[in-house]
Amino acid sequence: LADGPLKGKHILVTSGPTHEPIDPVRYIANRSSGAQGTAIATALAALGADVTFVAGPADIAPPAGVRVVPVETAAQMLEAVQTALPADAAVFAAAVADWHVANASDSKIKKDASGLPELSFAENPDILATVSQMKTGRPGLIVGFAAETNDVIANATAKRLRKGCDWIVANDVSPETGIMGGSENAVTLISDDGAEDWPRMGKDAVATKLAARIAQVLVG
Ligand code: C5P
Repeated sequence: LADGPLKGKHILVTSGPTHEPIDPVRYIANRSSGAQGTAIATALAALGADVTFVAGPADIAPPAGVRVVPVETAAQMLEAVQTALPADAAVFAAAVADWHVANASDSKIKKDASGLPELSFAENPDILATVSQMKTGRPGLIVGFAAETNDVIANATAKRLRKGCDWIVANDVSPETGIMGGSENAVTLISDDGAEDWPRMGKDAVATKLAARIAQVLVG
């Protein structure tokens, strides 16, 4: 582990998409690349933190020097997060699927079966809200993300209060911004103190700045 201000601090980071199976060979996913979460884990480790990186399936390699817990589904991600606690801080950068397929099949669904398959859905646990609302053992600083396409600040501010996290990193993922899947991000950090716009910068730079802020809170 690197030497730095976060030495001795355990920080949990979730990252990437989740995959929700339809059957053993098919799944529902989303376009998250895992780039921002990976960059945050890297930046925290560089400041000396002991990082547990709970990673959904992404093409990007996980950072060196962190404890990687690979998961596939939202349910597995929640379980991995709960197993990894306690933590001094937690950053929930994963794009968790909102639903899973309730009638997923244990065997491959055949094309020639009786007509078209009908999928039914059930809600996934909200991992950020679950951890934020823990009565005991809650991490001291919890950071959520809010990818929005409209009314970014208003939606993200409401989301922070609804879920009960301390900070929300809000970003505009409208297609014309090129942020989702791109290498840059333009974020607003929303906390009890209000909304702070950060200039558009690389995802690595956002991660470095966020890690420094986390260090400020955890070690002063
Ligand atoms: O509600 P929404 O998905 O926009 O919230 C985004 C934030 O909540 C992110 O920090 C994401 O990691 C977290 N989240 C979660 N579990 C879910 C859905 C979202 O941890 N099931």
